[in-house]
Amino acid sequence: MNHRSIAIDGPSGAGKSTLAKRLAQELGFLYVDTGAIYRTVGLAGLRQGTDLSDVAQVAAILPQLTITMGYGKDGLQRMYLNGEDVTAAIRQNEVSACASKVALIPVVRDFLMEMQRKAAREHSVIMDGRDIGTVVLPDADLKIYLTAAPEARAKRRYQELLEQGQHTDFDQVLREVIERDRRDTERETAPLKQAEDAVLADTTDLDLEGSFQLLLGLIRDRLGVKEGQE
Ligand code: DC
Repeated sequence: MNHRSIAIDGPSGAGKSTLAKRLAQELGFLYVDTGAIYRTVGLAGLRQGTDLSDVAQVAAILPQLTITMGYGKDGLQRMYLNGEDVTAAIRQNEVSACASKVALIPVVRDFLMEMQRKAAREHSVIMDGRDIGTVVLPDADLKIYLTAAPEARAKRRYQELLEQGQHTDFDQVLREVIERDRRDTERETAPLKQAEDAVLADTTDLDLEGSFQLLLGLIRDRLGVKEGQE
């Protein structure tokens, strides 16, 4: 069967995962959150006390890691680290910075490549990340570069943390967003950038519903897919 793939790349907080999840449900595609995979490596390093700026130390822990991706009854992605369900643990705020650090390392990116491509070979997918359209799925049927101003993204992230009961201050969240953007866009391997053939979608002035309708319209136009069709 010929599967289809939609790549959504962009900086953190642009709404990629929330939108991709809803779009996948609407279209009957599998949602693949590749950030969750990097977060799982980041969590492993954090737990083992690995110096994440030391490439050799990070490379040394990789052979001990079995990272698997599964899907719950609700259709949502779950992450497993050596058999343990770490879906909730990888969402802790401190894991975000760890994920962004391990994502700088080429051996980590290579280590995680095949599991991402395999998902797209076996299913129609909406996959989100930073390098999906540029590196992981260069032949994706549709590439979307989803972005928003840093302040708008920090506001959303701040709200999300509050809802999770994690108290922090807004300026700190904004600094973290800017720092993460810098690391993600300036790294040498697979930096965050818009693929030449990606469609730019800016959600700074759109709410979730507006952003959803924008992307759904784009997908229907380009792929001609209807509701629940794989
Ligand atoms: O999307 P996220 O915040 O869960 O991603 C966590 C980190 O992983 C982020 O700093 C960038 C990195 N990442 C990446 O380098 N490549 C991807 N395809 C996905 C995420």
